[in-house]
Amino acid sequence: MTAAKTPVVVPSVLAADLARLGEQLDAVKAAGCAWVSVDVMDGHFVPNLSFGPDFVKLAKARGFFVDAHLMVTNPLDVAPWFAEAGADIVTCHVEAVTDARAALTAIAALGVKPGLALKPKTPVEAVLPALDLAAMALVMTVEPGFGGQKFMAEMTSKISRLRREIDARGLDCWIQSDGGVNAATISTAAAAGADSLVAGSAVFGASDCAVAFRELTAKARAAFGSHQKA
Ligand code: DX5
Repeated sequence: MTAAKTPVVVPSVLAADLARLGEQLDAVKAAGCAWVSVDVMDGHFVPNLSFGPDFVKLAKARGFFVDAHLMVTNPLDVAPWFAEAGADIVTCHVEAVTDARAALTAIAALGVKPGLALKPKTPVEAVLPALDLAAMALVMTVEPGFGGQKFMAEMTSKISRLRREIDARGLDCWIQSDGGVNAATISTAAAAGADSLVAGSAVFGASDCAVAFRELTAKARAAFGSHQKA
């Protein structure tokens, strides 16, 4: 049985003030943040365009653990760029690949941890057959494409199902809740069993992102504890 992970809050670069990105990253790092998420969008898979590998390099240069969330139609074509840039986890969407096991194997062959993401309308059963190959299962708790959206509480049933599967099978796999995670919703996501909680607006949109990071972390850890007693 793998040791239970301690929940972590993962600030999303998407919500940062790009004119102050370095300053904001340094502030959350000083507050204890070790992991940030870079949302990669191609304008096809989602109706938005965002970051290339250079943003992973920027975060790696500051010593962060970085996951690259590929919201793109051709994840296996671009995954090498993000591996080369130093990403620690590269996550593809199950909706963007024909064979999730082959996709995770191909990403792992790049020397990075592979993640598998699912959109709100995709049933959790779509990722279960490949879960043993994933270092992370990403449950979108908003429609992918934009930050600042409302948390979809109905997605917590997917998180709980993944938590039961991962615990029962003793898998070493993070469960990431991505989208709409803030002071009002983080306890719900953590109590359902998410141990990686992406927060963009709630951290970088706060007046003091270091304080916001610490407060969200405390809430996540308190709530996740209740899950473990369940
Ligand atoms: C959506 C993005 C967002 C982002 C987090 O595609 O993946 O979920 O990371 O944004 P907030 O925390 O502002 O909802």
